[in-house]
Amino acid sequence: MESKTSVGSFQHVLLLLFLLFCFGGVFYTYYKPAMSWLSCPIVSASTHKICTDECLNFLTENYNQSVNSTVLNYTKVNQQQQQLITKAAVTGANTIILIWRWPFGYKFDDKACSPKFGIEGCQFTDNRSQYDEAHGVLFHHRDITTDLETLLKRPRPPHQKWVWMNMESPDNSGRQTVLNDLFNLTTNYRRDSDVWVPYGRILSASEEDKPFKIPPKDKLVCWIVSNWNPYFRRVKYFTELSRYIKIEAYGRHFNRYVSNENYKTILPSCKFYLAFENSIYKDYFTEKLFNSLEVGTVPVVLGPPRENYEEFIPPDSFIHIDDFKTPQELAEHLKFLDTNSPMYEQYFNWRQHFTAHGSLFGIEHACRSCEHIKNNKGFRVFKNLNKWFWG
Ligand SMILES: *[C@@H]1O[C@H](CO)[C@@H](O)[C@H](O)[C@H]1NC(C)=O
Ligand SMILES: *[C@@H]1O[C@H](CO)[C@@H](O)[C@H](O)[C@H]1NC(C)=O
Ligand SMILES: *[C@@H]1O[C@H](CO)[C@@H](O)[C@H](O)[C@H]1NC(C)=O
Ligand SMILES: *[C@@H]1O[C@H](CO)[C@@H](O)[C@H](O)[C@H]1NC(C)=O
Ligand SMILES: *[C@@H]1O[C@H](CO)[C@@H](O)[C@H](O)[C@H]1NC(C)=O
Repeated sequence: MESKTSVGSFQHVLLLLFLLFCFGGVFYTYYKPAMSWLSCPIVSASTHKICTDECLNFLTENYNQSVNSTVLNYTKVNQQQQQLITKAAVTGANTIILIWRWPFGYKFDDKACSPKFGIEGCQFTDNRSQYDEAHGVLFHHRDITTDLETLLKRPRPPHQKWVWMNMESPDNSGRQTVLNDLFNLTTNYRRDSDVWVPYGRILSASEEDKPFKIPPKDKLVCWIVSNWNPYFRRVKYFTELSRYIKIEAYGRHFNRYVSNENYKTILPSCKFYLAFENSIYKDYFTEKLFNSLEVGTVPVVLGPPRENYEEFIPPDSFIHIDDFKTPQELAEHLKFLDTNSPMYEQYFNWRQHFTAHGSLFGIEHACRSCEHIKNNKGFRVFKNLNKWFWG
């Protein structure tokens, strides 16, 4: 959660930006956010407003006021259930997904499923009166609250699948035993979730993509951090690394706030960006990585092992801290690349054929879950969520 983007196609930048701010342990930050540049209390897919982490904190803090959903009378529901299911079958060209709560308050529209993902026939609703008609119910982990108790008492229509959505790492998500055997599907950054939505993807370059050019650089190594925690491995590594190489560090901790606009200029202007994750988990690489790749900055990663990264991004597109015995050796390598352009440019060879794009938070999960439910009508139970996700 420490950054924002620019360059490339404007839309993708926006997607990245949104993601960027919506993840990464935002809610476990140890500071009170400064609200000075809060400009987007509600994020809208149609206007492409982006949401900063401050904004998200704001949303969370004000969530109780912003959510006002109908509480159903379950007795009534039971009586109406058969009727509704029949109705759904008659009118039901669409796969209905009930969004239990808008993820982090971020609302989105089913109309975007077709143009963005080529997925047709999805209908999203936040009207809980449509519970019995819904083919799927999407639950965002961080927005599951005390209403769970009520939820559990609710009869589950036989055709309905409950989808568990979460993009935070286990460290940044509270374990809840009660969730164990509730869900039918998972949608998550993990490759082994049912509906996989990574933070970003490497795609084949299309004709619409402009030929890639390394953007002009006036900084060597940059880091933007909003969640400064001295106990995080990344902070220790940073501290050691900065003894051997100059790092342009931004964020509250350094008294150098970065606005969205600034972020768009800063990131591409750095030769290297420290894409250091706040917690280390398989498949957990966030917008820090994909933004750097997209704008043309070489990411230096701290996260799961290199092999894991190489399952998702080209091996020559990034530098892994584990490639070096010590931070000092890494610093020397970066300094060497600084003076050796042909070697530095090698890190962009992959851009001749590929581009990087961030995922769309919330809407991508909902559209892809809808598609999955549409195409997989069978019975499915996801056993023991806690063991799977938290280990
Ligand atoms: C909603 O308000 C209740 C009572 O004030 C509080 O316990 C709960 O944490 C709040 N929920 C959220 C999501 O802020
Ligand atoms: C929730 O919505 C109902 C019906 O629209 C309204 O009467 C009520 O005042 C709302 N409650 C809050 C807390 O906004
Ligand atoms: C719920 O609906 C049933 C059947 O229509 C009715 O008898 C009951 O009073 C309702 N309960 C509440 C709390 O509204
Ligand atoms: C919610 O759905 C119910 C049942 O389909 C409908 O009667 C009601 O008007 C809807 N409410 C809103 C706010 O759309
Ligand atoms: C979904 O999972 C629940 C809980 O394990 C199970 O009771 C239900 O039958 C499942 N439904 C479908 C359609 O797979």
